[in-house]
Amino acid sequence: MPRFHPLEVTDIRRETDSAVVLSLTPKSGDFSFAPGQYLTFRKEFDGEELRRCYSVCSTPEEGLRVGIKAVEGGVFSSFANRELQVGDILEAMPPMGAFGAKIAAKNLGFAGGSGITPLLSIIKSTLQADEKASFILVYANRSVASTMFRDELQDLKDQFLGRFHVIHILEDNAQDIELFAGRLDAEKLEGLFDGWVNIGAVEQAFICGPTPMMEIVKSGLSAHLEPFQLSIEQFLSDQPGRAAQKAESLGSAAPRGALQATVLLDGVSHNLPLDAETSVLQAALDAKLDAPYACRAGVCSTCKAKLVSGEVEMRANQALEDYEVEQGYILTCQSHAKTKKIVVDYDG
Ligand SMILES: Cc1cc2nc3c(=O)[nH]c(=O)nc-3n(C[C@H](O)[C@H](O)[C@H](O)COP(=O)(O)OP(=O)(O)OC[C@H]3O[C@@H](n4cnc5c(N)ncnc54)[C@H](O)[C@@H]3O)c2cc1C
Ligand code: FES
Repeated sequence: MPRFHPLEVTDIRRETDSAVVLSLTPKSGDFSFAPGQYLTFRKEFDGEELRRCYSVCSTPEEGLRVGIKAVEGGVFSSFANRELQVGDILEAMPPMGAFGAKIAAKNLGFAGGSGITPLLSIIKSTLQADEKASFILVYANRSVASTMFRDELQDLKDQFLGRFHVIHILEDNAQDIELFAGRLDAEKLEGLFDGWVNIGAVEQAFICGPTPMMEIVKSGLSAHLEPFQLSIEQFLSDQPGRAAQKAESLGSAAPRGALQATVLLDGVSHNLPLDAETSVLQAALDAKLDAPYACRAGVCSTCKAKLVSGEVEMRANQALEDYEVEQGYILTCQSHAKTKKIVVDYDG
């Protein structure tokens, strides 16, 4: 089961006015990663723990780097942008996720804002590893100034001439070509496929960014590609913090104990009282078990476990593949018991 390890911040580079790139050196644990994976950090703010995911933006050869964009009022991202110092120690779980698992020869990427981070890692690794591979990146941002890794992408264009193309879409209209100015919408997407991106030749597409953009791109691409050709990473904008955590604990109307979960964790079995409104993860955390989690929203798969017996309702799943669900894996943060007894194995 994944555990937290200390990492030293060895460099902080200001990427834009509101984004930093951190170089990290693990002090323990195995932090080898595949392009597209992310780290889950934990940190206490005012005595309460927050967990946040950040995608690795570098290649394995470059070392471990993450890019963090400050969101307004955002607790962890503001801390990383304003307070974090070189030499500080952060705690994170080893890399997770499978966003970059299905690379093909002809790839298309859509990134919105900080959604560029895993794509940058995937693009660099793919183009370096396979000289026949190509990538087209459509990258949406508010303005030139807020565009992360703009110079690095330009350098990649020069380095991989003819194999890497980037199309910047800027909301503030500072573009000569009308198609590239304003927000990325369904019409613009079809405009791109009508002359700029040969969608018929694309074998694999990657989408990462804020939810509204991802929905537009996903539905536009679905008309041209099969579901298995789409790889999606959602940068959820409402990962629970302190308030949401408390609300979930108070939300159960039925008495705790009407249902029961047997949870296997680190080789030890625990019997936990449950009710239909309490997720398996919440029951484990309430019992002070060190069960793994990060987003608590069905997006990251950190809380994955195997359902050994009984039935659950998984209220959201944007992280597990169909074959994993068929094998009995569940996201415990989203799983609510449907039978009186369930058995869940975090070690399985
Ligand atoms: C798998 C995964 C990988 C991620 N990788 C990266 C990455 O590489 N770089 C990166 O910068 N972020 C990344 N994120 C997003 C990141 O985990 C946090 O959600 C983000 O930094 C905000 O956390 P916070 O604690 O600062 O804000 P919070 O305190 O959680 O939020 C404060 C307020 O800001 C709003 N808000 C939160 N997030 C966003 C957002 N993304 N856009 C707009 N408004 C928002 C909330 O609705 C809330 O009102 C990733 C998320 C996931 C799930
Ligand atoms: S904690 Fe992220 S999917 Fe459950």
